[in-house]
Amino acid sequence: MSQESDKQRLRIGLCGVGTVGGGTMHLLNSKKSEITRRVGMTLEIVHVATRRPDPAWQDQGIRVSQDVFDVARDPEVDILVELIGGYEPAFELVMLAIQNGKHVVTANKALIAVHGNVIFEAARQKGVVVAYESAVAGGIPIIKALREGLSANSIHWLAGIINGTSNYILTEMAERKRNFPEVLKEAQALGYAEADPTFDVEGIDAAHKLTILAANAFGIALQFDRIYTEGISKITTADMAFAAELGYRIKHLGITRITAKGIELRVHPTLISERQLIANVNGVMNAVVVKGDSAGSTLYYGAGAGAAATASSVVADIIDIARAGRDDRNVSVVPPLAFSNLRNDIEILNIEDIESEYYLRIPARDRVGVMAKISQVLTNYGINIEAVIQKEPHGPDAEKGIVPMVILTSRILEKTMNVAIAVIESLDEVAGDVTRIRVELFDDERV
Ligand code: HSE
Repeated sequence: MSQESDKQRLRIGLCGVGTVGGGTMHLLNSKKSEITRRVGMTLEIVHVATRRPDPAWQDQGIRVSQDVFDVARDPEVDILVELIGGYEPAFELVMLAIQNGKHVVTANKALIAVHGNVIFEAARQKGVVVAYESAVAGGIPIIKALREGLSANSIHWLAGIINGTSNYILTEMAERKRNFPEVLKEAQALGYAEADPTFDVEGIDAAHKLTILAANAFGIALQFDRIYTEGISKITTADMAFAAELGYRIKHLGITRITAKGIELRVHPTLISERQLIANVNGVMNAVVVKGDSAGSTLYYGAGAGAAATASSVVADIIDIARAGRDDRNVSVVPPLAFSNLRNDIEILNIEDIESEYYLRIPARDRVGVMAKISQVLTNYGINIEAVIQKEPHGPDAEKGIVPMVILTSRILEKTMNVAIAVIESLDEVAGDVTRIRVELFDDERV
């Protein structure tokens, strides 16, 4: 904390007053006395950077700037709260704030996932904190759980629904059979979606968050460039109905797991048994299951997006920094990625090297012997069939003589499954691309 700061107040510079910034201002103002009681000092917004200032702020003695860099240069600011999002100019802004000896609180998962290694090293050198609880799973304190609550555990795996917009869309499609573009528009209007909604529906936002979770779970550097990413844009209501018939739901999951071969780091639509608690996480809600060796499986559930929930985590980070500064404690006592020494002796696996069960939907021609041919291909590659659905033809495909054949397979290396799918697609009896969705059984039926 800067020299000018006293032990009675902490001075906040807020960059960005959109959904989360507005929620943060509201929370700091409406809970002022309770926060003061918790912290033992007042948290005061002294400088706001936004293109749409509220005239009332100047009356409250808040400096207002159009340029976010004015906040990073302001000697009266102790903590810069970065809520502008995106890679640039957020990276430059955060680096300048660190150089100027300011702590940083950010909700920017893209920034942390991609530039976090550089940012944390700069912060270490300057003895300041960069806190980012709000970057992952909105109001759920999952970073605190991984870094502090579970610090006695070796983490085996974690899996989560970590994009509220995708979960909202999948839930509306499954429960109300609504179409994708209409539900996406609604998620945007509710302030859940990213500025560029392809980040939500193509899995990029979830990949940013999973990169951060994996680093905290295993004590590895942030490796966004190594993550495997698939979004929800190709999921159909037909797949959802078939999955339901088989006792599964389709959820967009981030999964990371440490294995003898390396670390799995992947984001994709996934079939999970309807009996799992996480299969019943609906709407904009997020949930993360963490499997530790001592605590076992623990489940964290809550709102993953929205002004109030995300502001809850932003303000909690500010409170942590304020408390440490008030007591002259070393504010960076908890390492930014949970471990004081990160390991670099373990690789992130290519998706081809993971093993999974699979859901396959095959557009088969309605001919005698087609099932036998497909199952022969699977047998040739050592893939067992666990369940099959074959319906009477109906709809436009039926007029072309095409019927969907749905198969659940046993566990197999992805590389082998890719070859088997290519062979199936080359059969005369198959009329188009095979839809493949990974199935996750976890190793704990309760979560
Ligand atoms: N667009 C994000 C989501 C916002 O839908 O989860 C919260 O990070």
